[in-house]
Amino acid sequence: MLEPSTAFPAALSCRGLVKRYGDVVAVDGLDLEVRPGECFGLLGPNGAGKTTTIEILEGLNRPDAGEVSVLGEAWGRGRDRALRQRLGIQLQETKLNDKLSVEETVTLFRSFYARGPAPLEVIRQVSLEEKRGAWVVKLSGGQRQRLSVACALVNQPEVLFLDEPTTGLDPQSRRQLWELIAGFRRGGGTVLLTTHYMDEAEKLCDRVAIVDHGKVIALGTPAELIALLGADHVVEFAVEGEPDTARLAALPGAGQVRREAAGWLLSLRTPHVTIPALLAELERQRLPLLSLTTHHATLEDVFMSLTGRTLRDGA
Ligand SMILES: Nc1ncnc2c1ncn2[C@@H]1O[C@H](COP(=O)(O)OP(=O)(O)OP(=O)(O)O)[C@@H](O)[C@H]1O
Ligand SMILES: [Mg+2]
Repeated sequence: MLEPSTAFPAALSCRGLVKRYGDVVAVDGLDLEVRPGECFGLLGPNGAGKTTTIEILEGLNRPDAGEVSVLGEAWGRGRDRALRQRLGIQLQETKLNDKLSVEETVTLFRSFYARGPAPLEVIRQVSLEEKRGAWVVKLSGGQRQRLSVACALVNQPEVLFLDEPTTGLDPQSRRQLWELIAGFRRGGGTVLLTTHYMDEAEKLCDRVAIVDHGKVIALGTPAELIALLGADHVVEFAVEGEPDTARLAALPGAGQVRREAAGWLLSLRTPHVTIPALLAELERQRLPLLSLTTHHATLEDVFMSLTGRTLRDGA
């Protein structure tokens, strides 16, 4: 049987991508393949190389080594202008002109492209009709973020790049952006996004690459990555004293034991079996329990188990 990647050319791909800034290796031999119609997420801590990678794919930054293909084209072969017409780009920090209105801003961006919907239609797509006459400076953070996505949608792109589209937004604004991305995908569009939010990646992305120190360290659907843990529940607990972790890991149904700032994490498959056994074991080790909570394993747990760090620790 043919691999999907050979049956359908990738929307985006890069192989052996390297980018250095002086002594810093921002991207260190990164491979990636995004399929047409897919929402693909790059996940990783600060400085992992996500923005550098996405900017190279966008044609805004040049790699030191590696191959890049975007909608079957390579950058720098005399077809950049035509290729750019097919892409929607939202940068990690978009600087919009404060003294332009929403409608003027979208109209300006629309003028950069040969084709695309009318500015008002795009404004409607991002639900900013009521604000069409408002200056950018008067918008809330969530409204400004939706405006910057509108600017990425003015040419009806085939591929939409979103670099941390929801960082710093309140939950309602985040959901509005998720809905917007879902709408773009219903029209057949491909999305490459970066995020620090695990729930966002789990909700939006068909597949996720976890990036650390400029390399992909894990790749798959959110469910596949969580299955790597071999245990889909996590108990977080704190005790007075140091537990014998080897004995905890040997409890029935227990997986990895990891230390975190506030205590310990134990992955497990069967909470109803393992939690009573854990409580009995802690009593045997004479360690008073200070707190205990459980959660379903997340991509954050996957990252921690792969690197021993949390996504928020950075490097
Ligand atoms: N223009 C630059 N000059 C020098 N170093 C840079 C430059 N851009 C990025 N870097 C370095 O390259 C590394 C990767 O940066 P990048 O912005 O790609 O990370 P990121 O994964 O997007 O991080 P974040 O989650 O904070 O946005 C970092 O160590 C960063 O300091
Ligand atoms: Mg970044």
